[in-house]
Amino acid sequence: MARAPKNDLPMMSTDEGIVLFHPHMPRKAKEYVCDTLDSRWIGQGPKVDLFEARFREQFRQPGPCISTGSGTDALHLAYLLAGIKAGDEVLVPLFTCTATNIPLLYIGATPKFVDVDPRTLNLSVEDLKRKISDRSRAIVCVHYGGLPCDMAAIRGLADQYGIPVIEDAAHALGATYAGEPIGSGSEFAMYSFQAIKHLTTGDGGLVTFLDESLAPLARRLRWFGIDRTNKQKGIWENDITEVGYKYQMTDIGAAIGLAGLEEFDETLAYRRALYRRYVENLKKLSDVTIADDFDPRKEHAAWLFTILIEKRVDCQLKLRSRRIESAQTHFRNDRYTVFGCEEAFPAMDSVDDKYLVLPLHTKMSLGDVDSVCAVLKEGW
Ligand SMILES: Cc1ncc(COP(=O)(O)O)c(C=O)c1O
Repeated sequence: MARAPKNDLPMMSTDEGIVLFHPHMPRKAKEYVCDTLDSRWIGQGPKVDLFEARFREQFRQPGPCISTGSGTDALHLAYLLAGIKAGDEVLVPLFTCTATNIPLLYIGATPKFVDVDPRTLNLSVEDLKRKISDRSRAIVCVHYGGLPCDMAAIRGLADQYGIPVIEDAAHALGATYAGEPIGSGSEFAMYSFQAIKHLTTGDGGLVTFLDESLAPLARRLRWFGIDRTNKQKGIWENDITEVGYKYQMTDIGAAIGLAGLEEFDETLAYRRALYRRYVENLKKLSDVTIADDFDPRKEHAAWLFTILIEKRVDCQLKLRSRRIESAQTHFRNDRYTVFGCEEAFPAMDSVDDKYLVLPLHTKMSLGDVDSVCAVLKEGW
């Protein structure tokens, strides 16, 4: 495909108006970070262990939870733990942050892009059905903006072909599907705690998986291939048998994360209230389509609020003239030369110039949402 234009507007400063993103810093973060700075452990220490244990309990994860320095690290670990090797073909969403797909290139695996579902911007199950084959080694799905994918259909296809599902739930912490926490029903799942996510550790991530026996390998891969537990006990053989990385979370990050876990329900409820306010304002506006299928099995995590509109750039400029930031945020990955993809993606073509992300974060009020919607109601 032709390479995409540089179509992002420069960012606004926070005193300019309603910005698109803002970090949520939990009330206890400073206290917990200061305690950590006064302690013996600022790198990977007891707070990391505590964060992992609390995360597992709070988000009802059935398997081990291994934290990392970023969501991208967690995805790389998930791919390695899933046994993906050089040359393997992996079904992945076309429309996502490049972080979903770049770690496959670290391994030398081949991302096989699946077109988008234009109603939700999640991957299209129809296109997945067309592309899945005996060559497919795994299905990776992203819950775009926090809206769960059609997990029943994806699970069914994975089972039919005997391959694992790897959920990139970077946007979707707190979402549920059929009443179960997102990520809890697949072989592998990952979360991101990067600066502007619901739960932040500054930068961080976490991989979880159903097979408990993979936990020692996951921990070794996270730390140079070294068995840290045995090393600390003085009983490690002092040998490294697999290529490891330096992918650990630090206690400084975990301290912020622990504070975030304590108020997560409140944060999520507030973000959902902002999301609902957008929906109430915009659902009857004929020029605006909300990127959500409102499937009752899915409980949205409300990380992004995305609309589909005509004359998207004009709309952005109008919003900007009222000091409201908006952006496309993520882009189809085939536009990036690094993936070397020349396939056609008709559904993505149909929404490429239409989708737009509106501000949603805990520094906004419900009145701010009304102000954004008032501009949209005027037209552009
Ligand atoms: C869908 C998706 N996957 C993975 C990541 C990577 O997460 P991180 O930024 O924590 O490395 C991101 C980015 O935040 C993302 O949006």
